[in-house]
Amino acid sequence: MRHLDLDLEVSLEKKRLEGSATLTVERTASQVNAPLVLDTQDLEIARVEASQGSGTFQPSPFTLGAPDKILGAPLSIQLPPTADQVRIHYSSSPTAAALQWLTPAQTAGKKHPFLFSQSQAIYARTWIPLQDTPSVRMTYEAHIRVPQTLKAVMSAEDNFQVDLRKLKGNTIGSVPGGLPILVGSMAQFSFRMTQPIPSYLIALAVGDLEFIQLGSRTGVYAEPVIGAKAAKEFEDTEKMLLATEKLYGPYRWGRYDLLVLPPSFPYGGMENPRLTFATPTIIAGDKSLVSLVAHELAHSWSGNLVTNATWSDFWLNEGFTSYVTQRIIEAVYGPERAAMEEILERQGLMETLKTLPERDQILHIDLAGRNPEDGVTDVPYAKGAAFLRHLERAYGRARFDSFVRGYFDHFAFQSIRTSDFVSYLTQNLIGSPPTAGPNVPVDEWIYKPGIPASAPQASSPVFTRVEQQAQRWISGQVRAKDLQTAGWSYHEWQHFLRSLPTPLPEERMAQLDATFLFSQSGNSEILHQWLLMAIRNDYGPAYPKLEEFLMSVGRRKFLRPLYAELTKTKAGRLRAMSIYRKARLGYHPIAITALDETLGLDKKQYN
Ligand code: BES
Ligand code: ZN
Repeated sequence: MRHLDLDLEVSLEKKRLEGSATLTVERTASQVNAPLVLDTQDLEIARVEASQGSGTFQPSPFTLGAPDKILGAPLSIQLPPTADQVRIHYSSSPTAAALQWLTPAQTAGKKHPFLFSQSQAIYARTWIPLQDTPSVRMTYEAHIRVPQTLKAVMSAEDNFQVDLRKLKGNTIGSVPGGLPILVGSMAQFSFRMTQPIPSYLIALAVGDLEFIQLGSRTGVYAEPVIGAKAAKEFEDTEKMLLATEKLYGPYRWGRYDLLVLPPSFPYGGMENPRLTFATPTIIAGDKSLVSLVAHELAHSWSGNLVTNATWSDFWLNEGFTSYVTQRIIEAVYGPERAAMEEILERQGLMETLKTLPERDQILHIDLAGRNPEDGVTDVPYAKGAAFLRHLERAYGRARFDSFVRGYFDHFAFQSIRTSDFVSYLTQNLIGSPPTAGPNVPVDEWIYKPGIPASAPQASSPVFTRVEQQAQRWISGQVRAKDLQTAGWSYHEWQHFLRSLPTPLPEERMAQLDATFLFSQSGNSEILHQWLLMAIRNDYGPAYPKLEEFLMSVGRRKFLRPLYAELTKTKAGRLRAMSIYRKARLGYHPIAITALDETLGLDKKQYN
């Protein structure tokens, strides 16, 4: 498929998207008589039609195969030999895994319902019938009807029917920000993505949204009650964009806007083109967690421009992105902060490697028969970034930077495999045979578990001082209030907490909390780390806060470790179950699937 045309009505009462998807397909000689097989999961297919050129659409026979638990049901369409367009009339189901339908109570404003999608890795098929693989790229256009009080946004250029609206005298509002045309009692928003993207980057959100301009190419969409706070937190976004362009060449997507979602968004961020989706839990008030913005922005090069062709090549997306993120942070906030973030990321990786089976420690992971989500660990991110850092150190920054820039240009708008990267690397950096000198064990990095002994390590004098302070407290030399912590940022605090041993007696935990107010932290990462420690030390006074956190935040990265830690003891398991019973309803389907597994539950017990 080469192009997708969506025409959907959003029914927040029925929790359904209803309408049609029209696919433009390109037929290769060898496939002229083969059926077109599309991915679907949980879709209700009403009818299918096909046409040729600009001809009329005629009914086309189709069958929906038996559903596979991971892949869904194949939709096979017998197309006339010359047909190049196929239209599927369908509706999504209220349980579609990509979609979360929120009640007003689950939003910041509490007045309007909200809908958002999360297509990566293979959930686009739960709201659109299409070829749901990152190896196929398409352009798209969409017409989305929503109740007039709400706004629709997508990973695409919006508001492009400007002329039409001007004719109607509809010129109020900022641009961008999406002015709809009125269709009956509904408002219709139109979108187009004119660059070919993989299906996992198609995204939609509907809610009571306002738009605030940040820079000339950047802005933020958020519910009105949190708009100002979000805009302040993300005020450096334009600087990040300029810094990345300076390193890796022009930003090719026009605008870069952020959408702040309600707290049930199951991820930190999602790099939907032109419009990053983000969790509100990164709004800490001091910009300390904005590397997430840098990360999603970096995907505009690594991921959205040069895309992993299969989910086994996921490290090409996330490893490059984690590396580029550190470079953006270095350019905008300086090398000290970049080094701290690199170290925190590496620590996380080393912890993860202790618990992961060897097959999951490999960058080019074998996912045969598995859900691509199984590959989403620190390995593609942090091990991938460490590999690139090793190349940077070995060949020098100047050479490596121009290599990476060349790589993004060379493979722009293509989906590539690990082997494509390796050939490009061999031809453009390492040389064949390798030039004498640097010796980076490329095959070991990509195809072996663990991390090579020669991997470079970042160092941070700031963190060394943090460790000294932690040591003074651990050894009992001083009380918490006498530690030298003045001027510590999020990064130092995170490192401090991670430097503390387990177990810590209740009195010691209480002393820390009374002095540093961790359980009242407005920084979600610190609060999460503190709550993890509280569970590990069975520190009772933190349990109300733990429950409140689990009830209000839906970010999988936070939820899974907390529930997993709870299940390690019998009392903890009971606590986990009693909270989960109440909280589950408010979580996103993607988080629910992960947590049901963490808690060893059978889905049917609940549905
Ligand atoms: N593309 C990912 C999120 C993702 C990966 C969703 C795989 C579904 C399947 C996104 O760019 C990401 O990595 N988000 C991280 C943020 C981070 C590492 C700063 C997250 O959500 O925690
Ligand atoms: Zn990412």
